[in-house]
Amino acid sequence: MAFPSSFIDELLARNPIEDVVGHYVTLKRSGSNMFGLCPFHGEKTASFSVAPEKGIYYCFGCHKGGGALNFMMEVEGLSYPDAVRALAKRAGMTVPEDEQYQSRYRQQERLWALMKEAGRFFNSRLYAQEGKQCLEYVQKRGLTKSIVTQFGLGYAPDSWNALVDAMRKKGYTDQELKDADLVGEKNGRIYDRFRNRLMFPIIDVRGNVIGFGGRVLDDSKPKYLNSNETLIFNKRKNLFGMNLAKKTKEPYMILVEGNVDVVTLHMYGFDNAVASLGTSLTEEQVALLARYTEQVVLTYDADSAGQQATQRAIPMLEKAGIRVKVLNVPDAKDPDEFLHKFGADRFRMLLEDSSNRVEYQLTAIAKKYNITEDEQRIRYIQESAALIATLGSAVQREVYSRRVADAGKISFEAMESEVKKAFAKKMAQEKKRQEKIDLAPARALQPKARSIHYENMRSAMAEENLLAMLLRDSSLLNAAGALTGKHFSVPLLGRVFDALLSRYKEGLEVALGALPDLTPEEMSHLAGIAHKQAGPASEQAFRDCVSTIMGESQKKEITSDADLLAFRNKLKESKGAK
Ligand code: CTP
Ligand code: MN
Repeated sequence: MAFPSSFIDELLARNPIEDVVGHYVTLKRSGSNMFGLCPFHGEKTASFSVAPEKGIYYCFGCHKGGGALNFMMEVEGLSYPDAVRALAKRAGMTVPEDEQYQSRYRQQERLWALMKEAGRFFNSRLYAQEGKQCLEYVQKRGLTKSIVTQFGLGYAPDSWNALVDAMRKKGYTDQELKDADLVGEKNGRIYDRFRNRLMFPIIDVRGNVIGFGGRVLDDSKPKYLNSNETLIFNKRKNLFGMNLAKKTKEPYMILVEGNVDVVTLHMYGFDNAVASLGTSLTEEQVALLARYTEQVVLTYDADSAGQQATQRAIPMLEKAGIRVKVLNVPDAKDPDEFLHKFGADRFRMLLEDSSNRVEYQLTAIAKKYNITEDEQRIRYIQESAALIATLGSAVQREVYSRRVADAGKISFEAMESEVKKAFAKKMAQEKKRQEKIDLAPARALQPKARSIHYENMRSAMAEENLLAMLLRDSSLLNAAGALTGKHFSVPLLGRVFDALLSRYKEGLEVALGALPDLTPEEMSHLAGIAHKQAGPASEQAFRDCVSTIMGESQKKEITSDADLLAFRNKLKESKGAK
């Protein structure tokens, strides 16, 4: 481990968790903990908890947790050493730099610089002789020079080495070009990955160029070539155009499918447009949206893929507390085409008219059925009732019930009873699901983290309780007796116990946040344990846990001895039979 533990301890002492988190989340105190809206998964009710005394946070919704360093890593997308640097800066401390980390940090900085250079190079080629065709294409698509500049669009020349040569001249190594995913490699030689394409730089909210999308200039396939994941690029966590849209004054964002749509929308004055990077919308992208806005207008393409993507995105966004509206572009396949055909004013009218998501979904259901036929009319009414039954507000339920009753030519009372029936069905399903969970307590107790599995539930629960108690009151460790990590059934918990015990013996703070060598998943799991309400942390309860753990570990030895004995007897038997 690179940074001295004394340094990390002081760093954490000078950066109280509630201050670090409080910078991003409004926290309200409740008892000894503080609560707020989780910045990682977006939500309406506060399930994000901070325990100042323990120096940790934990989200009961998405199960992320850890200390101040984990928080910085997660919220800012930093590496561990960069999180250390960020907190050190905050507290005015000097970081004792370690060789290895420094090089990784430098590597990131070099990649950012390289990507920016590459972007500049592509942009310059657009106005060179070789970029003539691309510039013509850009003009044909109706894009102005100033919007091209604002987005930093460019042209990747039709050459195997144009970028490679230019970047080598700037002092970048072949390895760096490979690390940035700007080149391919064959027979030990590298070559330009992007050739004869219109280049869209992908820029993160901090303004770094982290990747590229390259579009062909005609109808050939594949239409786009995109950067793969690199040290600095994670497409799940970014949205195209967010670097600009985050500055909008509008209280909502327009979410579209294509890069071209984003650029055109911005050109027409809609500076709040973003697109997911050729992937279907991810949880991470939703959380990013929730950091900057409270409302999203879904404006996907008019085709069926776009409509399916809309239905999928609605609950994801609503779960994050984002209000959703849906805009269907009429008489055009996408917003880009619509704007060029009909102009900004017409689009602004569409925005004002855009329906809320319930209306959109009801219309989608209506489209599926021919309601002049009784059979289909009934299905239309039932499916609509199922949708209406999910709405939380009675006013909403009444308004939409009336609408569907009218359309389906039935009385409001009949519709109302249909909705009630759908609601009862939903509740029954919910109850069944809950019962299933209750019937399988062992499964319910299994960690959410996929890398951690509990084999011996009895021991594991004692191990969890013991850790929760000692994190609250480290003096309990005096009652640990001969217990060591080896006795634990869960290797991770045993390892943490040993680490905490040795910190206690050295007179260091017994806290999770200071432990090195834990993955984010492990840290989240531990933060969850530390947040458990495990009853009072008494010495008696602690001793009970110790004896359960040691008892269970002994049992294991005995069973394995017994197995061994049985095995030997079998061996003897088979020899005797010969
Ligand atoms: N995309 C991709 N790979 C493809 C096709 C699409 O990564 N082969 C991604 C791109 O990010 C693209 C988005 O999906 O921007 C939407 O696709 P599409 O609508 O086809 O592209 P547009 O950018 O809208 O381009 P155009 O207007 O020229 O169709
Ligand atoms: Mn498109």
